[in-house]
Amino acid sequence: MDVTTAILTRRSQQVLDGPSPGDEEFIHLVRDASAAPDHGRLRPWRFVLLRGDDRDVLGNALAEDAEDEQNARQLTAKLHRAPLTAILVFSPHAGHRIPEWEQLAAASCMTHSLMLLLHSRGYGSIWRTGRLARSASARAVLGLVEGEQLLGSLDIGTPDPASLHTRRPQEDVSARVTLFRDVIRHETAKVPVGSHAA
Ligand SMILES: Cc1cc2nc3c(=O)[nH]c(=O)nc-3n(C[C@H](O)[C@H](O)[C@H](O)COP(=O)(O)O)c2cc1C
Repeated sequence: MDVTTAILTRRSQQVLDGPSPGDEEFIHLVRDASAAPDHGRLRPWRFVLLRGDDRDVLGNALAEDAEDEQNARQLTAKLHRAPLTAILVFSPHAGHRIPEWEQLAAASCMTHSLMLLLHSRGYGSIWRTGRLARSASARAVLGLVEGEQLLGSLDIGTPDPASLHTRRPQEDVSARVTLFRDVIRHETAKVPVGSHAA
């Protein structure tokens, strides 16, 4: 699959079944995804993989922090929506000359590359944030250390073949691209005639 096709046909997949990549295959794909732009080559991210009943422990942790009536069973069921849950952890290098926002950008670049690579192999994925990204109990049970941040999870598996035909219509983004010469012309037009210092 060429890169344009991969970008245009990838969709977030809500419904995912088996098979999912094995641990070795996942590591292989992450290695390839880590070729994404990363200022300083810091790799400021890591994954924690959960399969099967591993998710029950995380569901119980999420229930501890639930501010609504959702119970552990409901939360755990949501975590079982795909055969593989890859928790994405942002691990910035504190005090580094590369600012944290650039490190977060690198983590996002890597994640998109990973989703494209999964898609090119016939797997589907969806990046989910929600309560997982806010839960202190989830942080603890997943072993995050100070300075790390939960960026949510990638649900990974195999999508229903019917969902692969839902290609998103392309938007007109031309208004989001500005020519600098038009900016200058616009700014110059705003200066009243004769106001320039001699
Ligand atoms: C940082 C991030 C967080 C997201 N969190 C959620 C989420 O919590 N729940 C969800 O259903 N989708 C989530 N998504 C997926 C987006 O909803 C999805 O990418 C968007 O609707 C566009 O759909 P597409 O990926 O199929 O083009 C998230 C995406 C990103 C990049």
